[in-house]
Amino acid sequence: MSIDAPVVVEVGLGDRTYDILIGSGLLARAGAEIARRLPGTRAAVVTDANVAAAHLAALQASLETGGIQTAVITLPPGEKTKSFARLEEVVDGVLAAKLERGDIVIAFGGGVIGDLAGFAAGIVRRGMNFVQIPTSLLAQVDSSVGGKTGINSPRGKNLVGVFHQPKLVLADTGVLDTLPIREFRAGYAELAKYGLIDRPEFFAWLEKNWVQVFAGGPERAQAIAEACRAKADVVARDEFETGDRALLNLGHTFGHALEAATQYDGSRLVHGEGVAIGMALAYRFSSRLNLASPDDAARVESHLRAVGLPWRIADIPGELPDAEALLAFITQDKKVSRGALTFILTRGIGQAFIAKDVPASEVLSFLTENHSDQQKMRPR
Ligand SMILES: NC(=O)c1ccc[n+]([C@@H]2O[C@H](COP(=O)([O-])OP(=O)(O)OC[C@H]3O[C@@H](n4cnc5c(N)ncnc54)[C@H](O)[C@@H]3O)[C@@H](O)[C@H]2O)c1
Repeated sequence: MSIDAPVVVEVGLGDRTYDILIGSGLLARAGAEIARRLPGTRAAVVTDANVAAAHLAALQASLETGGIQTAVITLPPGEKTKSFARLEEVVDGVLAAKLERGDIVIAFGGGVIGDLAGFAAGIVRRGMNFVQIPTSLLAQVDSSVGGKTGINSPRGKNLVGVFHQPKLVLADTGVLDTLPIREFRAGYAELAKYGLIDRPEFFAWLEKNWVQVFAGGPERAQAIAEACRAKADVVARDEFETGDRALLNLGHTFGHALEAATQYDGSRLVHGEGVAIGMALAYRFSSRLNLASPDDAARVESHLRAVGLPWRIADIPGELPDAEALLAFITQDKKVSRGALTFILTRGIGQAFIAKDVPASEVLSFLTENHSDQQKMRPR
């Protein structure tokens, strides 16, 4: 385990500016880093059973060394944990531990724990201090940065929540060694997304270096730091998503529709896999609209395939509803004004833009084409 100096990326939000520390072995210095920024505080650590089994003892030892007293709230892993019932459990645990507003809620887990614990931190005592210690690749490159928190409603994903920025994010790239490979790949889709939005050199770098990123060498920390820089830039420009923060949704419109079409069944499709297929479709759709070259779409597909991610609708196991039903999931997810949809499209690698007037009829013919082509391709 190396404890080299971590990379520091700043999220510039005026007097709410905070650091993201990225590096291997950071868990061991979590206590010291937190105590330096928030001296004299106590903490509630919110985690899930998988993360607790692999890493909780190390975090607790580190917090103890930093002189931080802790209560621990351990929840079952999985998307279902982002619920009102679990929120109540976290709120109750924090209050039972008699934590004050100046004390800390620490999210120690993937995006599920980060979103839930962040929401609890945002509402208990009208807003407590919050620290993110993300343990999945997806959480390290995306969900732990930017302050979006929340839970799911029976009526849809992420419908209830608040913006509540952390005081610090500690991304220990070494804890990813225990992450199941499928989850690592799913997070990789979000990592590649930053290259595809507006960092073409980063995408080209990933094409060359992805094996080392998976293997866990210095390239892994380098890639995560670049992703955090990209996310921090967008968040500093547009904290509340009134403008170009929406670019981060590249691949998510198709992706969410596919997640909904599989009833959020993680055995068929996890979020990052939906985003991977969604990004490939966004590039293919942009090429169909003569905005991007088919070579760019092919390049995206070929990279996703190389790392082992699904990249076409036919890669999803089991039956899917038809193109019209997929479009219905998309229109349900979004405002449709006079038959036009907002999509993140692209003019090439790293040239994504927000298109506000995509005709629903174009989306339907594209989906029909892809759906039937890809159903034919499906291995029997
Ligand atoms: N707030 C945001 O800006 C934002 C952005 C993107 C996604 N999200 C949310 O993030 C969630 C998905 O996050 P996720 O992919 O991290 O899912 P997750 O939190 O469910 O973690 C994935 C799985 O990996 C396990 N795990 C995590 N770290 C581990 C480790 N180091 N070792 C072993 N197992 C580990 C978890 O227990 C879980 O089983 C979704 O709910 C999504 O809506 C939020």
